Amino acid sequence: MAYSALVMDHFQRPRNAGVMEDANGVGDEENPACGDVARLFLRIEGAIILRASFQARGCPASIAACSVATEMARGKSIAEIEGLSRQDVADALGGLPPGKVHCSVLAADALHKAVQDYRRRSS
Ligand code: FES
Repeated sequence: MAYSALVMDHFQRPRNAGVMEDANGVGDEENPACGDVARLFLRIEGAIILRASFQARGCPASIAACSVATEMARGKSIAEIEGLSRQDVADALGGLPPGKVHCSVLAADALHKAVQDYRRRSS
């Protein structure tokens, strides 16, 4: 099964790609199975995600998942992000081919780690 048009769109035109210099929450995640890596940057004010960006080295599905995860994060509260599941990220991409679902885990886990990092910094 091939990637959906939505996955390819996010892969070819990633939203919010790049380093965020003034991030106050940063999360790193690696997929031990393939070695792909992702870093999620968040700028959080008053418990709301103002901006989100990412850097990643990975397969098309993982890049697309990072892209869509940053879009999902913007404007949400940190509590909402903490309630976001790995499946929610895969669903936002319209699903992934069997065998590639694990690729969306990278983005979801990096996003959660970025929120944890923010909580650590601000406690
Ligand atoms: Fe590594 Fe997709 S193959 S995250």
